[in-house]
Formats: sequence, C-alpha cells, structure tokens
Amino acid sequence: MAIVKIPPRQGSAQAGDQVTLRDRADVTAFLAGHGIEYERWTPEHPVAADAPADAVLAAYGREIETLKARGGYATADVIDVKPDTPNLEMMLAKFSREHWHDEDEVRFIIEGRGLFHVHPPSGQVFAIEVEAGDLIRVPRGTHHWFDLCGDRRIRAIRLFQDMAGWTPHYTESGVDKGFEPLCFGPAYVARG
Ligand SMILES: [Fe+2]
Repeated sequence: MAIVKIPPRQGSAQAGDQVTLRDRADVTAFLAGHGIEYERWTPEHPVAADAPADAVLAAYGREIETLKARGGYATADVIDVKPDTPNLEMMLAKFSREHWHDEDEVRFIIEGRGLFHVHPPSGQVFAIEVEAGDLIRVPRGTHHWFDLCGDRRIRAIRLFQDMAGWTPHYTESGVDKGFEPLCFGPAYVARG
C-alpha cells in the first residue's frame, strides 16, 4: 500500500502538522485530486518477484492491456535496480532533481520501494512512497522527483507512449533540496 506524506506548510497562516495517509481510499482520492492515478494490481496467476521479465509481464497482462488502451501506451518493460547496479548513483541523480516529462510516468512496483515527490501548481509538495503491488500514473508535465529508499531496490513495470518522450526536463527550481528523501516503510511502521 502506498503512503502519502503531506509536509506542514512553512511560514504560512495554515501551518500545521505533517499529514500522513495510509488508507487506500484516502490515498486514491488525494492523488486523484492531483490528477495522479493510483491502483493496486494483483497478478492473474502467482508470479515470483524475481521471475523473468516476460513472466512478470504475462502475469499482469490483463492490467497492462487495459491501461495501454486507456492511456495510449505502446510498450511495457521491466526495470531492475539493485544496490550493485552499475552507475547507480549517476542514474538516480538524473531523477532526484525536480523535473517533468513529455510522457506520463507509469510504474507498477513488483519489488522494493521508492519515493516520489510531487510539486503541484498549487504549491504544496507531497510525497508518495510506493511498494510492491502499487500502480502509479503521474501525468506528463507534472513536476516531480524520485528517490530510492535505503534498501536501494526497485523492480517495476514501466509503460511508455514513446520512450523518447521520457527524457527529463529540469525545472532547476531547487525546491527538491528542501525535502529529505526519507522513506517511511515497514521499519517506520514497526517503530511506531
Ligand atoms: Fe520522472
């Protein structure tokens, strides 16, 4: 289940505590209010998280085809990121600064976790921590950035309209520097 964190407003009359959403209906409704689609997917048949990419794509074939038809996505692939992935830090640095794409960012998480920060036009940045079973669709043009969690692990299905459209455009706003890429995750829940 994804977790949404809405940090307190800084220096505003509406200053308050951080809000955390963990309830599926709350998370779905909040994200929908920002044009972000959130779903939980289940495979048509059981598939191991480390199964070959073809097997994973086949297991989620029905969900993928439905989303392809709805969003005009042409291709789906599987991306694997591990702590020993070559040039990992360089790869992560490309996406941990505020940017947008000419393409929707569509991810279904198979294994591991990740943290999206979204900077909506209304101004208040919020964070979405995704984990296995979460489908997230961030519309093209949305200002956002992405970090891995401490375990440096994510395996995800990606859907593309056109891979060329997925080049990041940087805002260079520096907004991302004001936010720690700290995941909540299971450890946080256990401590709480
Ligand atoms: Fe992105």
